[in-house]
Amino acid sequence: MHPDLEEILFTEEQLMKAIGELGAQLSHDYKDKNPLFICVLKGAVMFMADLVKRVDVPMEMDFMAISSYGASSKSSGVVRILKDLDRSVEGRDLVIVEDIVDTGLTLAYLKENLLHRRAASVKVVTLFDKPEGRKVEIKPDYCCFEVPNAFIVGYGLDYAEHYRNLPFVGVLKRDVYVE
Ligand code: PRP
Ligand code: MN
Ligand code: MG
Repeated sequence: MHPDLEEILFTEEQLMKAIGELGAQLSHDYKDKNPLFICVLKGAVMFMADLVKRVDVPMEMDFMAISSYGASSKSSGVVRILKDLDRSVEGRDLVIVEDIVDTGLTLAYLKENLLHRRAASVKVVTLFDKPEGRKVEIKPDYCCFEVPNAFIVGYGLDYAEHYRNLPFVGVLKRDVYVE
């Protein structure tokens, strides 16, 4: 446990079990497609690393850094690309790897952006989905867990860049982030 956390929502064991099952599903669905997995930095870094180890078909990885939250606990709604992909994605089957879908603004922007680059397909994999937070209609294609409308941190998810290194996921105490 961590003193800034209200409660732990998912232990490392629970995360790994779900990620193992998702890896098996993706291995089945992307057999012979040589998919390109795109990690959305920085939040998805832990999830990406653990997920690809459980995908046992040929695949490639690339990384994109996107930010909409900055140091705030609320999405600014303005999505910025901080680091772009290294190569063209034309004709490729893309798997966007996200840690969480909240308002959906990051993902809506990213999906549109990648389709414009003439990808053959773009699917979204997320560790967490927070459906109550949605501002634009978008649904992940694969999701491990639905989460309540609380500010969660750990396992890649941050508040003002902190807590990403926690191996588990928990709810941040309100007094840590009320502005
Ligand atoms: C967080 C999270 C998702 C996005 C989800 O990223 O990692 O990428 O916000 O929120 P949304 O659905 O409301 O757009 P953030 O912008 O905090 O950058 P980070 O991944 O570097 O923490
Ligand atoms: Mn992110
Ligand atoms: Mg963040």
